[in-house]
Amino acid sequence: MNITYNEKNRIFKLDTPHSSYCIGVVDEENFLGHVYYGRRLSSDDLAYLMRTGEPPFVPSENNRERTAFLDTFPMEYTGHNLGDYREGTLSVRTLSGHTGVSLFYVSHRIYDGKKALEGLPATFGGADECKTLEITCEDPVLKLQVVLSYSIFADTDAIARSVRVINNGGEAVYLTKVLSACIDMDNDDYDMITLHGSWARERAIQTYPVRKGKQSVGSVRGESSHQEHPFMAWKSRTATEEAGDVYAMNFVYSGNFIAQIEESQFGSIRAMMGIHPEDFCWKLESGAGFQAPEVICMYSANGLGGMTRNFHELYRNHLIRGMYKDKKRPVLINNWEATYFDFDTDKLLDIAREASALGIEMLVMDDGWFGHRNDDNSSLGDWFVNESKIKGGLKFLVDEVNKLGMKFGIWVEPEMISPDSDLYREHPDWAIRIPDRVGSLCRNQYVLDLTRKEVRDCVYDRIAAVLRSANIEYVKWDMNRQLSDLGSFGLAADRQGELVHRQTLALYEMQERLITDFPELLLENCSGGGARFDPGMLYYSPQIWCSDDADAIERLSIQAGTALIYPLSTMGAHVSDCPNHTVGRTTPFDTRGYVALAGTFGYELDVTKIPEADRNMIPDQVAMYHKYNDLVRQGDYYRIARYAENHFYDCYTVVAKDQSEALVTYVQVLNRPNFHSRRICIPGLDPEKTYVIENAADWPEIGQTEYRGDTLHYAGINIPPISGDFRARLMHLTEVKQAHA
Ligand code: GLA
Repeated sequence: MNITYNEKNRIFKLDTPHSSYCIGVVDEENFLGHVYYGRRLSSDDLAYLMRTGEPPFVPSENNRERTAFLDTFPMEYTGHNLGDYREGTLSVRTLSGHTGVSLFYVSHRIYDGKKALEGLPATFGGADECKTLEITCEDPVLKLQVVLSYSIFADTDAIARSVRVINNGGEAVYLTKVLSACIDMDNDDYDMITLHGSWARERAIQTYPVRKGKQSVGSVRGESSHQEHPFMAWKSRTATEEAGDVYAMNFVYSGNFIAQIEESQFGSIRAMMGIHPEDFCWKLESGAGFQAPEVICMYSANGLGGMTRNFHELYRNHLIRGMYKDKKRPVLINNWEATYFDFDTDKLLDIAREASALGIEMLVMDDGWFGHRNDDNSSLGDWFVNESKIKGGLKFLVDEVNKLGMKFGIWVEPEMISPDSDLYREHPDWAIRIPDRVGSLCRNQYVLDLTRKEVRDCVYDRIAAVLRSANIEYVKWDMNRQLSDLGSFGLAADRQGELVHRQTLALYEMQERLITDFPELLLENCSGGGARFDPGMLYYSPQIWCSDDADAIERLSIQAGTALIYPLSTMGAHVSDCPNHTVGRTTPFDTRGYVALAGTFGYELDVTKIPEADRNMIPDQVAMYHKYNDLVRQGDYYRIARYAENHFYDCYTVVAKDQSEALVTYVQVLNRPNFHSRRICIPGLDPEKTYVIENAADWPEIGQTEYRGDTLHYAGINIPPISGDFRARLMHLTEVKQAHA
């Protein structure tokens, strides 16, 4: 890892372990241009790539045609309305109503380490783990300074980029668009990859050609959303799981976003990511600064699998914090699908007693324990224990659960307010809505206006009091409606455009406060399932509930889409009841266990009511979790086959960092009549090592044959057909240690 600046050719070169990223300063003009991003290069002699002197137009020699130059030049970070007709990264409106802005290089500095972003989640690393380049640019007319920041890491090929805008002019200016990163490069027959979904089917992988015009994904829902994801990749059309160029951007942010690729008239592409400009307008007073969130740029020459493992490495080492960062999580049982709102102390203790006898380690009390909430129509905001349900009080319940040797966790939804709540009756102006309009309800609730400090403090204090009242060791922080009707009773008219970003900052402030005040708490974020599964939230919670759909088969696609970017250690995954409450499908209990093993692992069912045969499997499943979780959490993940692609089976493996073992999960979704065995190639193993199937008893058809690592990778192994649908098996490969002479 290194960052250099060559004074002579005016090229910045950022070298990650396997990639180089180069930025050039154009002589005389001082425009900042993007020069190169890709495989690591040995030289920075690259100024010739900048296309400053080639037709059609040259800026310095022909000012008359300056717009044509600006409209083709690969800008490192763009201005607006001064010649570049492509959509750009920065837009402003001055008090006189003008929107022109153009940036020129002024200075730079390079230093060891990486600064935190004030009020925002961001990747981190010590002085020996990362280096940072800050390039300061300026619009000399507006006296608007823009600091572009790039951090690289010693252990992964990521570049963390962010942008800070400082108003050094004498009067306020409105920022109407401040994206966080831009990459202008030639299109090389790229395919674009984005993630799409809905409630209960989040993050389906979609691949399509980059074409002329603009293709974008985004969210204006006030959260990263079920529907689209703050991620895009563009890869060479021939790239595979193991080889070929892949570029990606992922936004470390949980509010509105846009990710866009525009292919220009000359075949170049402009990839950009940042806060969605819709409904965004930030008043920047003279002397004030605005910090745009971080974008992670990633390059892999080792195909999509390489990209995935780079992201996993980055997030495990440089984003996730806290006590549970590198630790196994307790196996939990959550009462939501077991009881919904219909529970009391007795019912919860029944579940806990049975669960503890089976080896389950934590009981989570979900929605319905506060106010007078017996369905989803009331009480959000009234964070007081409902003692007609929690008879004897919360402390009694938690103590009883602790006596069983189990931890206790609780569900909250701090960002919301029900119209039927004492909080709303006292403070109707604390809900986000537009005055003189009927506010739109969703799940019969409004979003609280957290931009107001008194609102944040009130809700936080109520929840903190509950957490202090008993030995609560886990919190599930939920968020069950998206933002609309944007209006704050607390913001001035010319600051209403700041609402969504301020709301996101407020969420971060509250979560930071929570994990600071309760450092031993295990926090799991959630949003109607997986609507806010993003790197921003991972900075606060080491795990996020992946989806409300816990059907083992649906989960194959949801978890594959999630694991495209995020480590398996972050994916909230449970064994749930059958017929599944979302799709009505019945799958074998062991299959549900194998699929949940790819995530945090837990149960979401009434353990007192499930069939005895299923219940009897739980102790073995818990033991399986303990046996494999270190490997699953810390190992390298390789996709082998995706059910969403082939419609018959799913297969992935996690390989230990020292390649001493691997766990292969194989799910035969549909059996096929009259079909021979299926060849599976298992990548990631050491070609020099010999492996054996440690759990050979589960593979009687194969037995304890020995294989070389390269044989498993390139020749593969034949998996026999299994009778029936929705069948799954694990294969644990362990290294055969050579006996020392
Ligand atoms: C959301 C969550 C569920 C559950 C319910 C409770 O939908 O995703 O897991 O907690 O809220 O209302």
